[in-house]
Amino acid sequence: MKGMHEIYFSPCGTTKKAVGEISAAWAGEEKREWDLSAPEGGDTQAEFLPEELCIIGVPSYGGRVPLTALERLAELKGRNTPAIAVVTFGNRAFDDTLAELCKALTERRFQVVAAVAAVAEHSIMPQFGTGRPDPQDCAELLEFGKRIREKIASGNLCCPQVPGKEPYLERHGGGIVPAVSDACQGCGQCAAECPVGAISKEEPWKTESSLCISCMRCIHICPRKARKVPESVAAALTERLGKLCAGRKENSLYL
Ligand SMILES: Cc1cc2nc3c(=O)[nH]c(=O)nc-3n(C[C@H](O)[C@H](O)[C@H](O)COP(=O)(O)O)c2cc1C
Repeated sequence: MKGMHEIYFSPCGTTKKAVGEISAAWAGEEKREWDLSAPEGGDTQAEFLPEELCIIGVPSYGGRVPLTALERLAELKGRNTPAIAVVTFGNRAFDDTLAELCKALTERRFQVVAAVAAVAEHSIMPQFGTGRPDPQDCAELLEFGKRIREKIASGNLCCPQVPGKEPYLERHGGGIVPAVSDACQGCGQCAAECPVGAISKEEPWKTESSLCISCMRCIHICPRKARKVPESVAAALTERLGKLCAGRKENSLYL
């Protein structure tokens, strides 16, 4: 292998973590990271070689690949480059996300050799999937990585069957714009790190709702915990999704 790439859209960091845990099965390989959720992630263009391996992760938003992630993935090109498709989901379900990611990668001329759905802390409702991927998940993801490595070493590069099919679930716009409390001191960290530039750099307590993708990064990184999901929205979501997100969901490997 001539190089490995960890490529992720990961506003709150769990997808990055899951990709890293799988990648750990290739200890000693030189790896490059590509953060498609960075504010400059939209400018990332790259072409990968047939001898390289890409591990490509996105979170599930409403059972789909986030539109911004899809747009940024469209700037990447494979040349029959082996790829591992990784989806994280917040302990509800990933629905069509893995199928959509595999299709997008195949269209970009990646050769999807394996796919993983990994449970993660729910970035909107962290009371679900709390702390995941946890040590048990990490051990499992490493094990998945080793099995994928064996498959590739055996020369078998066939694409696995994954759940989900077209027509995909209807995409629902984010719509959850974080509320800002008096604790905000205008440090601007949220504005500097917003993946889509939705927060004003001059007045960081202002968010342009038409740009916000509801990824929750600003809530996650605010040093003063001044941003949060509006209470009425959090209550309605907990009511609607509480039962569906309950219990411990499993990670899945498709080979
Ligand atoms: C807008 C939005 C929609 C989401 N939709 C789902 C979903 O349909 N099913 C699910 O299980 N988790 C859902 N989640 C939770 C994320 O998939 C999960 O927290 C993921 O690990 C976040 O990845 P990140 O930490 O890399 O940002 C959603 C999160 C957001 C922000």
